[in-house]
Amino acid sequence: MKFHRINSLEDYKAQYQRSVENPEAFWDDIAKTFTWQKPYTKVLQWDFQHPSIQWFADGELNITENCLDRHLPHKANQTALVFEPNDPSQKVRTYTYAELHQEVMNFSQVLLNQGVLKGDRVCIYMGMVPELTIAVLACARIGAIHSVIFGGFSAQSITDRIIDAQAEFVITQDAAYRGNKIIPLKPVIDDALLKCDFVQKVIVLTHAKEPVNMLKGRDIWWEEEMELVGKANVPPAIMNAEDPLFILYTSGSTGKPKGVVHTCGGYMVWANYTFEQVFQYQENELHFCTADIGWITGHSYIVYGPLLAGAKTLMFEGIPTYPDAGRFWDIVEKHNVNILYTAPTAIRSLMTFGTGVFEGRDLSSLRVLGTVGEPINEEAWNWYDENVGKKNCPIVDTWWQTETGGVMISNLAGITPSRPAWATLPLPGIQPLLVDEKGIENTEINAETGFVHGNLCIKFPWPGMLRTTYGDHHRCYTNYFATYENLYFTGDGAYRDSEGNYRITGRVDDVLNVSGHRIGTAEVENAINMHVGVVESAVVGYPHDIKGQGIYAFVICTDHTHDKDLIKRDINETISRLIGPIAKADKIQIVSGLPKTRSGKIMRRILRKIAEGELQSLGDTSTLLDPGVVEEIVKFRV
Ligand code: WTA
Repeated sequence: MKFHRINSLEDYKAQYQRSVENPEAFWDDIAKTFTWQKPYTKVLQWDFQHPSIQWFADGELNITENCLDRHLPHKANQTALVFEPNDPSQKVRTYTYAELHQEVMNFSQVLLNQGVLKGDRVCIYMGMVPELTIAVLACARIGAIHSVIFGGFSAQSITDRIIDAQAEFVITQDAAYRGNKIIPLKPVIDDALLKCDFVQKVIVLTHAKEPVNMLKGRDIWWEEEMELVGKANVPPAIMNAEDPLFILYTSGSTGKPKGVVHTCGGYMVWANYTFEQVFQYQENELHFCTADIGWITGHSYIVYGPLLAGAKTLMFEGIPTYPDAGRFWDIVEKHNVNILYTAPTAIRSLMTFGTGVFEGRDLSSLRVLGTVGEPINEEAWNWYDENVGKKNCPIVDTWWQTETGGVMISNLAGITPSRPAWATLPLPGIQPLLVDEKGIENTEINAETGFVHGNLCIKFPWPGMLRTTYGDHHRCYTNYFATYENLYFTGDGAYRDSEGNYRITGRVDDVLNVSGHRIGTAEVENAINMHVGVVESAVVGYPHDIKGQGIYAFVICTDHTHDKDLIKRDINETISRLIGPIAKADKIQIVSGLPKTRSGKIMRRILRKIAEGELQSLGDTSTLLDPGVVEEIVKFRV
């Protein structure tokens, strides 16, 4: 069977069935359509017990050849990348496929000149500027492993990531524009590198023209190096399909963030396949994903997915509320955006500005809307549908994770039905199931709700799944494959209806989802505990109207703490310094004790209920070491 774009619900069902019954033939048909330097002979080998997943293992390729070179014969002069700057009065920059190809080769040469070798890790800490996309692709072109760090992370977070990846090269910029603020980036890198003396070179792009310190012998300017190179011709490095393409750090329920590793072949196939199927991208359309390239959504649906498909992708430097809350709609009108992909938190925050901002703004170019990152509530879904889509654009609610590389469960725009707050059906190749605490599959429909409920697992590999956690394969096993035998565990809970549609309810582990950002409670607690005035802390999430979840911290302070307001401020500053402002607590309650079991375990279940305001259903507290603590905490709840 020749691979074709899914074109109806029946076609979806047929393709889904084939992907389950004959996965190797199914994926072979799709993978064959790419450019391989050497064709693979094996499609898949896998083992979830001792996690080892290999797709197209003996094939050789380069993802940038597929993103760029492959399109040149027929698309050289077509737009590949559109850059909308933070300040709407500044010039829009566009790159055709030929121009982007040339820029990527030029910067590849810069990297080669600095001694970057295939397999070396390169840390990229930049704002949303076109050079970020160029840097990412240049790494991929020469076979270096990029590790992009979101521009909002602190120096300490960068240090941790650079050490973990042993990244000897860093690419950054002087500063980034964000609304009416200028965010320094190079100074943060300077701080981060105080503890990373193995870093050889830092390449610095001038963007905001902010003064920076350049360290002799280590720091070099992007522009100067590019000028030295001129017009370069760098052929794509030949990569094995299973060679790492990138590392992206993400939070888990324990310890420090882990480096999720994606590989060249499988990720390529998955990013392209999901982009085309989910959004039903049509030739010449402009795709606007509002995520930051510092997160997986930006990797897969700003850079790789659209470029692999030969699409036009838009990068936006700024924020949705600058210069006013109609900025997204201005961008849609100005550039004739066809596909808009954003997060529920952005929708909820824009809802607070009312519908006046839509007046006089023409959104008729829109064909498809998407959401990602967290469960979308029905109110936000309907608002998006009515005001942005004018009830004329399918909304794809795409559930997936950093670890999955691309969309896993979603309706397909205009092809399979959408349903408010439901991610709906798994993509071909994805075999989800719901299990109970013990790992037994739940198939029984609950008479009251009409749904099956359970923890969401996947029982068969897909090309874009993570292969390991960098430097610590065992952690990959314990995080994803040890909870339930022979299953990949997502960390999410979900409902399924009798038709096989999924509704994701959110994390069931100690990971918070704050404005669509993944934050581990343990990470925040560790940061809070670093403060001299703190004895112990416990962090939980609670429902937040705009952010989805807010962070509630219960903190025991030392006896000498008198000024409570001051210490609360200090605690948030500590979090900002150690993780980044995105992890600041929304609420801090100073307590004299925490509810603990006799064996000393903090009863998070009770704290969660208190934070959520569910005071009637705290459950049995008699087994606690000191039940009185709960009363006190409830009384002084913030
Ligand atoms: C959540 C982002 C409900 C989920 C791509 C997942 C969602 C975590 C959805 C991954 C959705 C993502 N509906 N929940 N459509 N999409 N999530 O790694 O809890 O930053 O486990 O990847 O976001 O977040 P991550």
